[in-house]
Amino acid sequence: MVKKAIFPVGGLGTRFLPATKALPKEMLTIVDKPLIQYAVEEAAAAGIEEFIFVTGRNKSAIEDHFDHSFELEETLHAKGKDAALKTVRDMIYEPGTVFYVRQQEPAGLGHAVWCARHLINDEPVAVLLADDLIFGNSCMAEMVASYKSGNMVAVMDIPKSDTGSYGIVTPSADDGQLLVVSGLVEKPSPENAPSNIGVVGRYIIEPGVFSQLENQSRGAGNEVQLTDALARQIGKVPFHGFRFSGERFDCGSKIGFLQANITFAMSHEDLADHLKNWIENRFLAT
Ligand code: UTP
Repeated sequence: MVKKAIFPVGGLGTRFLPATKALPKEMLTIVDKPLIQYAVEEAAAAGIEEFIFVTGRNKSAIEDHFDHSFELEETLHAKGKDAALKTVRDMIYEPGTVFYVRQQEPAGLGHAVWCARHLINDEPVAVLLADDLIFGNSCMAEMVASYKSGNMVAVMDIPKSDTGSYGIVTPSADDGQLLVVSGLVEKPSPENAPSNIGVVGRYIIEPGVFSQLENQSRGAGNEVQLTDALARQIGKVPFHGFRFSGERFDCGSKIGFLQANITFAMSHEDLADHLKNWIENRFLAT
């Protein structure tokens, strides 16, 4: 039912300067894979068949990443490096299923999503923010399995002191996994936050959200906020929050990025023991 996904990758990544001056934030690497590839693989595991990237200037590395590299493939073939060749070939999707739309100015996440409107018909669409990295089961696959209609956002319980960094939902029902959402506000201060349940960068949105974004003025941070468009759809279509089973890392922040690298490395058989021993000897030995 949900067959298309939008990957907004037009942000400037200012929290990661200077790394992100010429390199897209979404190409930052967790162990051996860029963030954007994890997000694309998560979407593919959810049954997504069309991948729409909303890019900006300096983002061409993302297009190259998901395309053939003939010189590399020829060299790997000639040298008999079959495993490496398979790795680079397996990540090429069928021609005509990957789309790139340019967001000419980074006017916010809502604006980025709106830029993809002509590629979406009368259908729900997934939105994945690659800098929110999920360790564990595909979050989007879990959401698609439980999605029926309307809008859905992935949520997690966060410390009350952190509400200013998230969209925060007001739940009117909560069975532990699925929440009925009756309110949504972007980055409230802890005093004004309606709950400590924060939105994580995974959404399934229905077409009405694009109509909301069409005429929307800029909100928090002088950006067009997806949260505001979703909030305006409350009462018109069903709105659910979904508590996913995986562990989320905020790879748009340095600490989240480092924690993700260590966590993912510990799941690589060939790295785990080396890394653990090294950390113990280097930092924990007395
Ligand atoms: P962030 O809020 O993390 O912003 O965007 P950012 O610009 O990427 O990073 P900082 O805060 O300056 O360090 C959340 C997601 O929305 C996308 C980003 O690429 C990221 O995936 N985004 C944001 C856009 O595609 N366009 C925008 O105008 C803003």
